[in-house]
Amino acid sequence: MGHRVTLIKGDGIGPEVCKAARKVVDESGAHIDWEVFDAGASVMDEYGTPIPEHIIESIKKNKVALKGPVTTPVGKGFRSVNVTLRKSLNLYANIRPIKTYAGVKSRYENVDLVIFRENTEDLYAGIEHMVNDEIAESIKIISKKASANIVRAAFDYAVKNGRKKVTAVHKANIMKLSDGLFLRTAQEVAKEYSNIEFESVIVDAMSMKLVLNPENYDVLVMPNLYGDILSDMASGLIGGLGLVPGANIGENAAVFESAHGSAPDIAGQNKANPTAIILSAVMMLEYLGETEPAHKIEKAVEEVLKEGKYLTGDLGGNATTDQYTDAIVSKLHN
Ligand code: NAI
Repeated sequence: MGHRVTLIKGDGIGPEVCKAARKVVDESGAHIDWEVFDAGASVMDEYGTPIPEHIIESIKKNKVALKGPVTTPVGKGFRSVNVTLRKSLNLYANIRPIKTYAGVKSRYENVDLVIFRENTEDLYAGIEHMVNDEIAESIKIISKKASANIVRAAFDYAVKNGRKKVTAVHKANIMKLSDGLFLRTAQEVAKEYSNIEFESVIVDAMSMKLVLNPENYDVLVMPNLYGDILSDMASGLIGGLGLVPGANIGENAAVFESAHGSAPDIAGQNKANPTAIILSAVMMLEYLGETEPAHKIEKAVEEVLKEGKYLTGDLGGNATTDQYTDAIVSKLHN
């Protein structure tokens, strides 16, 4: 019996990249039994929502999911699928490792950082109203509990993975109460981890420092909005969203997914780069304790990227999704 995992194919390029990730995982020797679901545009007519309740029930039961991207209809009154999942499963930590890969063109050589983004509150709490016809108000919620949870997750990760430094990112000089609480909480939690260096940086300065010297940073932890922006920016440092995996982790469930969206412009054309979801599956296997297959897959991905024979269009090559995936699978069997 393997680990039972909910696989949500998503829409756009979701089904193509999920097929690739599933194939690589199945060929790696990992023990996974998939429970597969469609989601997004293709189920809207039948269920009236892109993420029907039975999928959420499946994740609650299996506790682990691998998820393809899902298109969020703009301005139609639907809450984003991702926000719904994060809130209903209390997936408080969004984790995105961002590192340079040999063979992928980018301006930097030694980026290797991990962003911990608080995932349940801040301006994403969705508390907004019109004060009158001409003034809108969004409420920013920062709690000590959620702040401590995300900071502790960042430090625990640093300890477990031999990382040296945690940097907390904030704007406490302006938002003295909300970001002030986040910063104070981070400083308190940091005292519990005397072997890990701790510093705090204001978000605007952090943006500049990351672009100038990304190699100076290790583990970064921040509230939701800054994490959303800086993690996309950081993915630009290493060659784009197609390479950045992600994990959304809570106390009772974990959902692994790429940072990119459903890429409707290239959907259904066998062109998408499946690296991000394959590396998300690597994070999932590590979480499940399937360490050996996880390392095998990561090494195979690194080798295929380094050789540069089968790169997808976004990385300057002309391989199809299937050709790139098969190149990884053949490395697994070497
Ligand atoms: P996007 O990430 O889907 O695409 C941005 C650009 O990057 C496009 O040119 C696309 O072709 C390219 N791209 C993205 N992933 C790629 C890959 N794996 N291989 C090759 N090229 C890739 O962002 P966009 O266009 O802003 O969003 C499209 C839809 O996806 C929206 O409805 C959005 O709400 C949704 N979305 C869903 C997410 C999720 O389910 N986790 C996350 C982000 C966006």
